[in-house]
Amino acid sequence: MEKQWWHSATIYQIYPKSFMDSNGDGIGDLKGITSRLDYLQKLGITAIWLSPVYKSPMDDNGYDISDYQDIADIFGDMADMEELLAQAEEHNIKIIMDLVVNHTSDEHAWFVEARENPDSPERDYYIWRDQPNDLVSVFGGSAWQYDDKSGQYYLHFFSRKQPDLNWENAELRQKIYDMMNWWIDKGVAGFRMDVIDLIGKIPDQKIKENGPKLHDYIKEMHQATLAGKDLLTVGETWGATPEIAKQYSSPAEKELSMVFQFEHIGLQHKPDAPKWDYIKELDVSALKEIFNKWQTELELGQGWNSLFWNNHDLPRVLSIWGDTGLYHQKSAKALAIALHLMRGTPYIYQGEEIGMTNYPFEDLSQLNDIESLNYAHEAMENGRAQEQVMDSIRMIGRDNARTPMQWDADANAGFSSSAQTWLPVNPNHADINVETALADPDSIFYTYQKLIQLRKDNDWLVDAEFELLDTADKVFAYKRDNYLIVVNLSGEEQALDFASDYKEIIISNTDVEAIFASGKLEAWDAFCVKVE
Ligand code: GLC
Ligand code: CA
Repeated sequence: MEKQWWHSATIYQIYPKSFMDSNGDGIGDLKGITSRLDYLQKLGITAIWLSPVYKSPMDDNGYDISDYQDIADIFGDMADMEELLAQAEEHNIKIIMDLVVNHTSDEHAWFVEARENPDSPERDYYIWRDQPNDLVSVFGGSAWQYDDKSGQYYLHFFSRKQPDLNWENAELRQKIYDMMNWWIDKGVAGFRMDVIDLIGKIPDQKIKENGPKLHDYIKEMHQATLAGKDLLTVGETWGATPEIAKQYSSPAEKELSMVFQFEHIGLQHKPDAPKWDYIKELDVSALKEIFNKWQTELELGQGWNSLFWNNHDLPRVLSIWGDTGLYHQKSAKALAIALHLMRGTPYIYQGEEIGMTNYPFEDLSQLNDIESLNYAHEAMENGRAQEQVMDSIRMIGRDNARTPMQWDADANAGFSSSAQTWLPVNPNHADINVETALADPDSIFYTYQKLIQLRKDNDWLVDAEFELLDTADKVFAYKRDNYLIVVNLSGEEQALDFASDYKEIIISNTDVEAIFASGKLEAWDAFCVKVE
């Protein structure tokens, strides 16, 4: 396998509304991000995945784009974007843009024209039908919206303000490639491709993801934009299996660098149930099996994994798999060690490196996310009690990931000079914040810093095979090359009955010598040792 820069990189995702507010309007912005690059450099990340900053009416916080070649006013302007790119380069940090091309905003010039003028070429950039079928939107209700002007319905897999693009139209595809090339020329290092598995949809046959032409489109896109350039591309592919992931990410296919698969995230919900029906007693054995499957089936040279616990659509991992109480710090380090030493490119979501948690939302007025609000209204109309609805949102809702980054213990967590932040600041910022983390050499931050450095320095982290070890259910243990990784994914004591000795401690959150002496793992113990 030819080694690429992103094989030993760690990527950091920024959700711009929530990272850093530079002008006191309570909303994060580009200048705010630029002002925090020193911090990100200290952490050691290779690249930022920047969630959308394009012009947008913000119906879905920027995932509804009205101009791909302009910046939303709340975030600044193109000069601020160029300044971020330049300053990031000074800090040795690359920028990966979010590419949202399954749909646009209904305020995009293409859609405005398509709606106003049914005879325009733009009409066919979208999907119009005389009659809707029973496809539903991810955000609730029908996926079809009636348009008065022409008496037809348009397709939207997400909100009504996010009409789906028609990838069958070659002229539209070319416009998207031109736009991508324009950003590549500006110096971006790649793209995270939003719901890319939907672009091959065939609505009349109710085919949503993995449509028959999906990979033709991605190959065409690759030739038109990525070929011969040293970029990282990662597709958001909820329905991927290892076989599908190979189609996208095998170098021979000339499509993408890697995809996000979501099987481990699926364990948070009851099978085949809405995401809101979450599971309280998570199945650690199933988690291990899923990691094992992806680590072994996506073989080296035939595909590449991405590794993540969190993103802007998911609850905070500590509130799901970890411990937000007594073992807050220790479980955060354990989850980081478990993930980052597998094969693949790790992604850190802002605040994960200091152990940010879910927010104790109490009522709907504290929420912003269209998905949660639509769900709440629909569920309550169907008779679900408000408390039950809030319980699901507190556990699973997307706003949990989107509350402001916690920089210090001051008012508004150092995120903004305004007390009117767009989402409330988590009250636990008094304890959980960057300033406190940086001052404590034993903090979660430094575990992440070390994991990032280890990946840069050690080829075995890139190449070595993964072998899952047979252990107690709640212990996740694997070997790679001459290295043993052991993580107790529970708050209870567990036996260490499969290792006898070690040569060198690589990283740990505990007293490794004591573990080997006693044969016992305490709550959330985690380590990597060299064994031969
Ligand atoms: C992706 C994004 C999510 C967004 C959706 C529609 O899943 O990650 O935030 O709501 O696509 O663009
Ligand atoms: Ca601002």
